[in-house]
Amino acid sequence: MATTILITGGCGFIGSNLVNRLVATGANILALDDLTAGNRAFIDQALKKPNCQFIKGSITDFPLLTKTLRDVDVVLHEAARPDVRASTANLFSDFAVNVQGTVNLLEAMIKNDVPKILFASSCGTVYGESAVLPTPEDVPLAPISHYGASKAASEMYLSSFANLYGLEAYALRLGNIYGPPSNHGVMHDFYWKLKKDPTTLEILGNGEQLKSYLFVEDCVNAHLKALETKIQGYLPINIASIEGTTVNTIAKEVIAAMGLKEVRLTYTGGERGWAGDVRKAVPDISRAKEVLHWEPTTALSTGIKKYIQWLEQSKKTD
Ligand SMILES: NC(=O)c1ccc[n+]([C@@H]2O[C@H](COP(=O)([O-])OP(=O)(O)OC[C@H]3O[C@@H](n4cnc5c(N)ncnc54)[C@H](O)[C@@H]3O)[C@@H](O)[C@H]2O)c1
Repeated sequence: MATTILITGGCGFIGSNLVNRLVATGANILALDDLTAGNRAFIDQALKKPNCQFIKGSITDFPLLTKTLRDVDVVLHEAARPDVRASTANLFSDFAVNVQGTVNLLEAMIKNDVPKILFASSCGTVYGESAVLPTPEDVPLAPISHYGASKAASEMYLSSFANLYGLEAYALRLGNIYGPPSNHGVMHDFYWKLKKDPTTLEILGNGEQLKSYLFVEDCVNAHLKALETKIQGYLPINIASIEGTTVNTIAKEVIAAMGLKEVRLTYTGGERGWAGDVRKAVPDISRAKEVLHWEPTTALSTGIKKYIQWLEQSKKTD
C-alpha cells in the first residue's frame, strides 16, 4: 500500500515544494494549511492528481488533526508562523501555532499510532549567538528571538514524545531557505526594493551579518533523505549551506542577477538587522552528511539567478 504523508503548511513556500515533489513519487499526499500565509495555487497541479488532497484547517484544531491523522504513515511538519521579526509583537498567537500546534500534532500522532515526523526547525535561530562556529547540533540551545524559542520548545516536545512513545522524530534545523515561490526573506525584500528604486538599496544593519542560505530544492532533497533514513528517537540535524554568506554578498548577487549596475548601498547601521537578529549563524552540516548522506548541490549564484528569474516571471503573470 502506498505511503500516506501529511504535510502541514502544505500551501506555504517549503510545504508546497514538498507537496509538488512528493506527489510524483506516488505517495498519498495530504496537504493541510489554514491559508493564513500560504496559497492553494502553489499546489494546483499536484491537486489534479488522484493521490493529492488539500485540507483547509489549522494545527490549533486538535479534533481535526486527530481525524486527519487516521491513516497517515509520516508527518512533514512545516506549518508555522515563520516571521522572526514579528515574533516579539506576536508572542501569544505565535506560541499558539508554533508550540501548541506542534504539541497538538504530536499528541494526535500518538492517538493514531503515526510513527514518524520531520519537523522544520531552524539552525539560524535555535542556537542564538553561539560562540562555536560552525555550530554543531550538540551545543546548548540559547535562542535570542521568540521565534527561535518556539522552535527550540517544539524540539523539546519532539524529544519527550520520542522518549515516551518511541516516535521517530527528526528536527531538520533549516538555514535560510530561498527560491520559488517564496514571498519572504532577504532576497525577496532586496528584489522588491530594487524594483521600486533600481539606484539605491537599503540594507538592514551593517550588512556583515553572516548566515546560511540554502536553495529550496536542496532543502526538499534533505527531507527526502530523512524520509528514507530510519533513526531511533529524536535527532536534530542542521540542513544548511556549507559556508556562511554575508548580507552584503547577497545584495551584490541579487543586483547582478537583476542586471543592475552602480546601485548605491545604504545601511540602517548596527550589527543586527532587527532586535533578535542573530549576527552570525553558520551551522556545521557534518551530521547531515553522515546520517542522511546529504549535502547542498546548488551554488548560491545559480540559486539566486533561478529565484530572481522566477520573481520576474511571476511579476509578469500577476
Ligand atoms: N523559509 C525559511 O528560511 C525557513 C528557515 C528555517 C525554518 N523554516 C520553517 O519551515 C517551515 C516552512 O516555512 P516557509 O518559509 O515555507 O513559511 P510559509 O509561511 O511560506 O509556510 C508556512 C505555511 O503554514 C501555514 N500555516 C500557518 N499557520 C498555520 C496553522 N495554524 N495551521 C495550518 N497551517 C498554518 C501558512 O498558511 C503557510 O502556508 C516553517 O515551520 C518555518 O518556521 C523556514
